[in-house]
Amino acid sequence: DAPPLIDSYGRQITYLRISVTDRCDFRCTYCMAEDMQFMPRSEILSFEEIETIAGAFIARGVRKLRLTGGEPLVRRDIIALVERLGSRIGHGLDELTMTTNGSQLVRHAPALAKAGIRRLNVSVDTLDPERFAAITRRGRLDQVLDGIAAAEAEGIAIKLNMVVTRGVNDDELVPMMQWAHGRGFELTLIEGMPLGEVGIDRVDSYLPLRKVRDRLAETFTLERIEKRTGGPARYVRVAETGGVLGFITPMSHNFCESCNRVRLTATGQLYLCLGQDDRVDLRAALRDGGEAGLAAALDHAMVIKPKGHDFLLDRARPAAPAVARHMSVTGG
Ligand code: GTP
Ligand code: 5AD
Ligand code: SF4
Repeated sequence: DAPPLIDSYGRQITYLRISVTDRCDFRCTYCMAEDMQFMPRSEILSFEEIETIAGAFIARGVRKLRLTGGEPLVRRDIIALVERLGSRIGHGLDELTMTTNGSQLVRHAPALAKAGIRRLNVSVDTLDPERFAAITRRGRLDQVLDGIAAAEAEGIAIKLNMVVTRGVNDDELVPMMQWAHGRGFELTLIEGMPLGEVGIDRVDSYLPLRKVRDRLAETFTLERIEKRTGGPARYVRVAETGGVLGFITPMSHNFCESCNRVRLTATGQLYLCLGQDDRVDLRAALRDGGEAGLAAALDHAMVIKPKGHDFLLDRARPAAPAVARHMSVTGG
């Protein structure tokens, strides 16, 4: 049998995030610049290549796949890929899931459910339509809410992702939580990370979630719970709402020591850390060396996976990113 993927710090890789496109129909202010250069379509992996690469990971112990973007549902014919990857559930794969902005869910929810998707993470930073339009630059809140309802109607569990930005949506934490929990959705709060030049002041907009948590704890009873999704969030149950609230705190509390994941871009680059540039080119490895080339590239990836990120905010250069590539290259 192929050996498991264990890096030089002893961490086993069991979670692969696959970005199927770097394109998106939104331009969220913390993620993208207004005017973005996307990868040429000729560079994008075919579905066959994605399946081969995913299969190599599954053979070596990956149990969870998450499709990301950009926005995964804007890639043409995406359902065909979801169906093909979905057929691996129960054959080495425990979970196939997706992170989406929700804009195309009305159309795709039934097929996603049918292909084996049980859970979706949907980005919703605000429940105010005007604010939503301002944050996403081209999104419409009602469309996303309809999409969420469509997924819910298919029996898909929903987790909302909210990137908390100081002065933009930090006054909405409690209403957002009450809304989400009232509908049986989980809510995860995320600290903004300095990926890519987007023209916002990363220092000013940063709000440590530790503070948010302490503030919430003055009004609500937060009980720490263990929830093993394989993701980086730490969770509490809120006694008053009965719902689950997660915190993703790469800036204030680094979780790299338990990292179990790597990320494949739409062009076949395998990034070994969200906050570093270390990568291997799996597209070249596969095209030049076939499955053996791919296996060797995975071995090499385990040798060079870095210990962790070192996101730093620099008051002197508040718009400067820690990493040049945008979040949309790897989908988080
Ligand atoms: P679950 O399966 O529900 O646990 O999802 P997830 O949190 O793994 O995935 P999701 O795509 O919803 O990501 C939520 C946020 O976590 C995004 O902002 C990601 O960029 C961030 N994130 C995920 N993995 C890592 C990581 O390894 N390092 C850092 N710094 N952030 C991460
Ligand atoms: N920092 C933190 N999270 C981000 N996301 C996009 N850009 C950033 C950033 N700079 C979030 C999206 C989505 C998830 C994949 O990552 O809102 O929910
Ligand atoms: Fe698109 Fe998601 Fe980036 Fe927003 S955060 S621009 S929805 S990829």
